[in-house]
Amino acid sequence: MNSVKYSFVSNFYGPEIWALFLLSWGVIVGTQSTTITSQQLQAEANAILNSGWWNTSDAHFTISNCCNWLDISCNDDGSITAIHFAHVFQYPREDSSIHFATLNLTAFRNLESLIVLGNRLRGTIPEEIGLLTKLTHLDLSGNSLLGEIPHSIRNLRRLEYLDISLNNIQGFIPSELGFLTKITTLSLSHNRLKALRHLF
Ligand SMILES: *[C@@H]1O[C@H](CO)[C@@H](O)[C@H](O)[C@H]1NC(C)=O
Ligand SMILES: *[C@@H]1O[C@H](CO)[C@@H](O)[C@H](O)[C@H]1NC(C)=O
Repeated sequence: MNSVKYSFVSNFYGPEIWALFLLSWGVIVGTQSTTITSQQLQAEANAILNSGWWNTSDAHFTISNCCNWLDISCNDDGSITAIHFAHVFQYPREDSSIHFATLNLTAFRNLESLIVLGNRLRGTIPEEIGLLTKLTHLDLSGNSLLGEIPHSIRNLRRLEYLDISLNNIQGFIPSELGFLTKITTLSLSHNRLKALRHLF
């Protein structure tokens, strides 16, 4: 009798307990993926502030309001999702340039769009670009970028739009571009790239 009862209890509560467990797990996992810590927001703000890409001498630029800065968009949690740096003559001044290496890419875990057009962006495309795994848009066209396309580009699996045309990028077009199966726009023209090898 006891064993029958036990078995009944076990069958009855089993699925509910599992459902509860799975629900809690879902809540924990869901919370982990959407909650953004204040350290994360601080790291993003520091990266923006230390980049030298913005003129922060203006009084209205403070680290706590970087979501309101020109060319920056954030999600509801205040984490930076887009940098659209397309104001050619605003800053830096015409005689100056901005350097890719001074923007600490490792700080931006939620960046979906990085657009830097014709801004005299200099340097090479950093290997760290591959850490921006949420990127869907990457447009670096019309700058002065040198070096090769980093192999880490293979990590940008969500990329739909890639434009690095009109730079001085050289070397072979990496076969890693073949991993980017969501790409609908790909522009590599006007660089010093060599023949396609094993692409797509
Ligand atoms: C930066 O902004 C300040 C204050 O608006 C301005 O006086 C200064 O000329 C700007 N610097 C550059 C390099 O544009
Ligand atoms: C770049 O950001 C990461 C993550 O926030 C941080 O750990 C690292 O110290 C930063 N690097 C520099 C050079 O500021």
